[in-house]
Amino acid sequence: MTDAVVRDADPDDLPAILAIHNANIATSTAIWDIEQVGIDNRVDWFRDRTAAAMPILVAEVDGEVAGYASYGQWRPKVGYRFCVENSVYVAERFHRRGLATALLTELIDRAARSGRVHTMIAAIESGNTGSITLHERFGFAIVGQLPEVGHKFDRWMDLTLMQRTFPVEVTSA
Ligand SMILES: CC(C)(COP(=O)(O)OP(=O)(O)OC[C@H]1O[C@@H](n2cnc3c(N)ncnc32)[C@H](O)[C@@H]1OP(=O)(O)O)[C@@H](O)C(=O)NCCC(=O)NCCS
Repeated sequence: MTDAVVRDADPDDLPAILAIHNANIATSTAIWDIEQVGIDNRVDWFRDRTAAAMPILVAEVDGEVAGYASYGQWRPKVGYRFCVENSVYVAERFHRRGLATALLTELIDRAARSGRVHTMIAAIESGNTGSITLHERFGFAIVGQLPEVGHKFDRWMDLTLMQRTFPVEVTSA
């Protein structure tokens, strides 16, 4: 259970989202960047996701943005238009309070109701057992392992691909 409120993000949330994003770049293998990014990076991301009608959700605790989740098209070509990749990040001091669970519950509900998502992929650094367990709880299955496709913190990183599907009706080619 959590005391978080999950809602759609708005542009005023971007500084808090940026802080969580940059903390993950600095300390985790969840984001495979090395350099910190500026607010323009998140502004562009927010604009692109919003224009594509893809959700960005935040979890708020006592008025503070403590985590966020989103999905975007898995790969850019049109044939992938029913396939998305999800992401979920929670500020460290809010871990294990059910925030990621609350965010993913709503994100998956949005995907299911959109009628535009057949496949959701979670691409997780293979040592991130917390995220793998979290996604297993939501019915994601491990469908692939890519050894040594990343390098950060002076070591090779493997990528675990997890997948969940939703029924969609495709009416055009
Ligand atoms: C992974 C992450 C999103 C989980 O967020 P959270 O709010 O702490 O997750 P929840 O409290 O909802 O946890 C739900 C369940 O997931 C599993 N889980 C979460 N974090 C875990 C961890 N560090 N170790 C083991 N299991 C974990 C547990 O089964 C947990 O249930 P429990 O607390 O009842 O045992 C968070 O640790 C995080 O932001 N990590 C850095 C970024 C990241 O890895 N994002 C995912 C990228 S794919």
